[in-house]
Parts: sequence; structure tokens; C-alpha cells
Amino acid sequence: MATAAFFSFSAILLLSLTLPSNACLPSDRVALLYFKSTLIERHLGIFRTWRGTDCCRRWYGVSCDPETHRVADINLRGESEDPIFEKANRTGYMIGHISPAVCRLTRLSSLTIADWKGISGPIPSCITSLPFLRILDLVGNKFTGPIPADIGRLSRLTVLNVADNQISGYIPRSLTNLSSLMHLDIRSNQISGTIPRNFGKLRMLSRALLSKNKLTGAIPASISYIYRLSDLDLSLNQLSGPIPAALGKMAVLATLNLDGNKMSGQIPTTLINSGISILNLSRNALEGYIPDAFGPRSYFTVLDLSYNNLRGRIPKSISTATFVGHLDVSHNHLCGPIPVGAPFDHLEASSFTYNDCLCGKPLRAC
Ligand SMILES: *[C@@H]1O[C@H](CO)[C@@H](O)[C@H](O)[C@H]1NC(C)=O
Ligand SMILES: *[C@@H]1O[C@H](CO)[C@@H](O)[C@H](O)[C@H]1NC(C)=O
Ligand SMILES: *[C@@H]1O[C@H](CO)[C@@H](O)[C@H](O)[C@H]1NC(C)=O
Repeated sequence: MATAAFFSFSAILLLSLTLPSNACLPSDRVALLYFKSTLIERHLGIFRTWRGTDCCRRWYGVSCDPETHRVADINLRGESEDPIFEKANRTGYMIGHISPAVCRLTRLSSLTIADWKGISGPIPSCITSLPFLRILDLVGNKFTGPIPADIGRLSRLTVLNVADNQISGYIPRSLTNLSSLMHLDIRSNQISGTIPRNFGKLRMLSRALLSKNKLTGAIPASISYIYRLSDLDLSLNQLSGPIPAALGKMAVLATLNLDGNKMSGQIPTTLINSGISILNLSRNALEGYIPDAFGPRSYFTVLDLSYNNLRGRIPKSISTATFVGHLDVSHNHLCGPIPVGAPFDHLEASSFTYNDCLCGKPLRAC
């Protein structure tokens, strides 16, 4: 009798020593169950793993901080190499919305709910109260409504990816307060209004992908202060005004896509002899001459100037470029002989067609 009592007492002691200290916090578990209750995923059964008391163990896509045992990451991707997908032989599909209960996970450092194609509703505005959030990745769903206005409170945020959704509203003015932000991707949404003038405050930014929205106004010159920026994609918006010449002076800018806007004025000379290797200015209202400023630093895998109002000749200096892989100057008002030169000898007639009077190889002789 005494032995049995002692035995069960030590069992309880053991339980209380091991189980609760490793298990997740009951309030985290409850928050996760609320989160799950507004989502439906029928094909893979990922939420069937969300059972039992310890949400830090074997709950698909959930991980905890090993010291605090608080939920630190929710990582749910609808497209993945994970065996659960191989077994189902399909990509994920999920509907429903994100419950504000997720904001009770106060130690959350990453929230990835990506490529489920069907999740709708707004991004809960309370997520801006998660002080440890570093990654917010909601790409490839059907989220609507705006980016939360006070997103700028997330001082640790390094990745903000809401691409391929139906987000509307403006770029919040507070966004430029995200002083840790390295990767901004809002492509393919319905975001309107202007790019904040002080966008250049985002000093840590290396990729700024804003294409396929309804952005208007000018490209802020302050962007050129972003020392680490290597990839700037503003294509397929309604941006207007001149291209800031300072973009061609940026230290590591390698890709500049401004195609499909209403940019006017001349092509800044700085862009032609810079570190930029992908330059797409197609389908704008650019005028004047192609700057005669090519040189050994000019190395273009893509140089697309098609569908503008450029006139004059293709500058002779283009033959001094180190490389021009894909050139397109079609659909302009260019005239005169096409220069010859090794960097672009391989180009086809389609690169030059629909101009006023270009001639020479690969078009008809002059
Ligand atoms: C997986 O699905 C594809 C078509 O969706 C089918 O061609 C293939 O045979 C399937 N593989 C298995 C192992 O069921
Ligand atoms: C940006 O941060 C500063 C300093 O914390 C604050 O005063 C300002 O109101 C913030 N701006 C916005 C638009 O939230
Ligand atoms: C440049 O942009 C235009 C217009 O958006 C697009 O059609 C074209 O494919 C792009 N060029 C290259 C080489 O990617």
C-alpha cells in the first residue's frame, strides 16, 4: 500500500518535473487551436497532427523556442517537398481565414502561411503587436484588405512577403520605420497610392519587389540611399515622372525593372554604365536618345528599351559594352545604321523592328 502510494507520488512528481517544463504553454496551445479552427485543409491532413497537450512536439509546422518552450514559428507552406505532400501527390489547398488568436502567441518570431491559394479575409491588424516577429510570409493566398497601418511597429521584421494576394489600400506610411527589413515583396496585389517619399529610410533592404499593383506618382529619389539594394522591381504599375538618375549610382543594384509604367523624360546616362545587368524600361513614355555612354562596365543580360518614344541612333559606344545578352529596342523611333560589335552580334531582327529607319545587320542593308 505504502509502496504503491509512494510509487504514484513519484510518478506524479516525475510528470510534473518533465512534462510541463518541456510542453508548450497551455495558453499557446489554446491560441493554436483557435488558429486552426478558422482554417480548413482537407487534402493533406496537416492539422490532424495538432493534437495532444504538447504543441511543441510533432504539431506539423509548429516549433518552439528550446529554452522558453514558447511557440516561436508557424511554418505552413502549401508547396513543399515534405513527405506529407509526396504521399498526397498534390500541392496544398486551404480555405478559411487567420484568426486574431494568432496574436496571443506573443513570442512568435515567424509566421509563414504561404501558397495555400484559398485563404482569404484580412491580415489581422493585431499582428503588429507581436514584438518578436521577424518573418511575415503570406504569399500566394487570397488575402484582402490593407497591410496593417501600424506595420512599422514590427522593429525586428526582416521579411515582409504578401505577394500574390488581393491586398488593397496604400503602402502604410509607417512601413518606412521597419529598420530591419531586408526583403519586401508586395507583388501582384491591388495596392494603390504612392511609394512613400522616405522609402530610402529602409537601409537594410536588399530586395524591393512592388510590381503588378496600382501604384502612382514618382519614384522617390531617396531609394538610391539604400546601400544594400540589389533588386528593385516597380514594373507594371502606373508610376510617372522621370527616372531618378541616382539609381544608376547605387553600389549593388543589379536588377532594375520599371517596365509597364508611365515613366517619361530621358534615360539617365548613369543607368547605361553602371552595375545594373538587368534593365527593363519597356512600355513607358521615355523619349530622347539612348545615352551614348556604354563602356566596359556595361554588362547587360537584359536591356529592354522597347515600346517607348526613343529617337536618334543606336549609340556607337554599345560595341564597347562587355556583354549585351538580350537587347530589345523595338517599337521606338530609332533611325540610322545598327552598330556592329561582338557584344551583340548574336541579336535577331526582332530586337530592332518597328522603328522609323534602322538599317544594317540583322535588318536590311543601309
Ligand atoms: C501524381 O499525380 C500525377 C497527376 O496529377 C500523376 O500523373 C501521377 O501518376 C501521380 N503519381 C502517383 C504516384 O500517384
Ligand atoms: C516612425 O517611428 C518614429 C519613432 O519611433 C515615430 O515617432 C513615428 O510616429 C513613426 N512613424 C509612423 C508613420 O508610424
Ligand atoms: C520587359 O518588360 C516587358 C513589359 O512588362 C515584358 O513584356 C518583357 O518580357 C520584359 N523583358 C524581358 C527581357 O524580360
